[in-house]
Amino acid sequence: MEPENMPTAPEMAKIVSLCQRRGFIFQSSEIYGGLSSCWDYGPLGVELKRNIKEAWWRANVIQRDDVAGIDSSILMHPKVWEASGHIQGFSDPLVECKACNQRFRADHVWVLAVKDAGHDVQGYISTLEPADLIRKAVDFSNRLPEHLRVAESEQAKRFGKKDLLQNLTSEIAKIPCPACEVVGKLTEPRQFNLMFKTHMGPVEEQANVVYMRPETAQGIFVNFQNVLNSTRKKLPFGIAQIGKAFRNEITTGNFIFRSREFEQMEIEFFVKPGTEEEWLNYWLERRLKWYVDLGIKAESLRLRKHQERELAHYAKACYDVEFVFPMGWAELEGIASRGNFDLTQHANASGKDLSYYDEESKEHYLPFVIEPSAGVDRSVLAFLCGAYAEEPDKDETRVVLHLHPNLAPVKVAVLPLSRKDPLVEMAKDVQVNLRTLFPTQYDDAQSIGRRYRRQDEIGTPLCVTVDFQSLEDNQVTIRDRDSMSQIRIPVAVLVETVFKKLGGEDFLTLPPGGSVVKVEKE
Ligand code: GAP
Repeated sequence: MEPENMPTAPEMAKIVSLCQRRGFIFQSSEIYGGLSSCWDYGPLGVELKRNIKEAWWRANVIQRDDVAGIDSSILMHPKVWEASGHIQGFSDPLVECKACNQRFRADHVWVLAVKDAGHDVQGYISTLEPADLIRKAVDFSNRLPEHLRVAESEQAKRFGKKDLLQNLTSEIAKIPCPACEVVGKLTEPRQFNLMFKTHMGPVEEQANVVYMRPETAQGIFVNFQNVLNSTRKKLPFGIAQIGKAFRNEITTGNFIFRSREFEQMEIEFFVKPGTEEEWLNYWLERRLKWYVDLGIKAESLRLRKHQERELAHYAKACYDVEFVFPMGWAELEGIASRGNFDLTQHANASGKDLSYYDEESKEHYLPFVIEPSAGVDRSVLAFLCGAYAEEPDKDETRVVLHLHPNLAPVKVAVLPLSRKDPLVEMAKDVQVNLRTLFPTQYDDAQSIGRRYRRQDEIGTPLCVTVDFQSLEDNQVTIRDRDSMSQIRIPVAVLVETVFKKLGGEDFLTLPPGGSVVKVEKE
């Protein structure tokens, strides 16, 4: 896409400030100076995050017959990570500057060497995933003076990332330290595993080491047979999971975009070998649609196909769903066609038969898998950025989050025009009535204009105003966040009207005890 046609995103500082000010997201352990790259979700943030997970679960588990959900433990047998390749391969090469003792990712250092070329290197680096780094490092290196260029050798083409990094290694001595700029002080890169380690039981010894899972996916693979046997599902079918993952990331930043503790929403969709391309296309379309249905503009999303040299050796194809974040296009979700690598690895390492018996063809085989893997926190950031707007409102500017009603933390605010007694009583009654079905907020502080602004800023779709006239005619005013238009309706039809305005049948709310609400007409 041409730069002038690039969709725009709000400044990150504005999103961070709104999140802190209104209670969406806080720095972890803030009163102690904060813990780097860990974040706490406040009263509104926790609701937004829950709503995103609920919408994902509803679309991918509840509304489908061919996907079942699980919730596996964060701590798993260490052999899981040996078999999956995470102990060996899940590591970043680091270099250390002997002059200032700071550590950097080797491939980042390489990219930093192009800062003289006038690129916004900091913004650029912070958006990169490891696979992306290689592609960009090579692109950028082609613009460097001859002696600093990465030779994209035949070997690198054939074997990808690792060999390319070895080429980078030989060049690193010529590159100045990104922090102190001293040349020749960067060490050889050494591997640094991204998994957090801890110990199980009272004795801290090597034999007791367990890892905090760096992805939820392996909990799905090791439960493949359990789910198959207990649900009697037939291919194609998927297993879905939402849960925490931990990575000791070296480069973090851009708020909640890349942190050390985060949540994933993953599906492993098992298919008959030979049908994987069709299912990959299905999931690409389906996942893009999910974001668009929840209010993200289609032009703010794009699919980036991984080049062959970026692919893990077992992957057949991989796409990133990219979103235009404040720092530029960056990965929101990965969708990969992983062959039967994971099931093969776990079958071999555990000695258990993980094959599927196909009754139609009367054969046993290990299914192939399509993996849509989304980040919850990145989705929170994307939905916040996509919804954020500054709009004229009379002589001033209002900040508004145009969040989809299903995602908005508060659905309806109840605003009495005065704090005088009979009005308060009526307003409280209205709130109690609405609260049985919709998350509400009661606000009687300051002018009505200011209260509308506060609700706009947190994305509340509807405000219900109770005024002195309401005491006489039993009617209230509903104000719409997006159009700012107002209608007056009888209290008797308030719940039904609010339900319709929030999307009717498409509105997702889970009242105590139950399934999705359907309000009967009076
Ligand atoms: N099982 C495949 C897998 O984990 P991934 O691309 O490493 O693939 C999937 O991660 C998604 O998880 C990413 O697209 C991103 O949304 C999210 N994610 C990964 N690392 C993250 C981090 N450090 N902080 C926040 N989200 C992260």
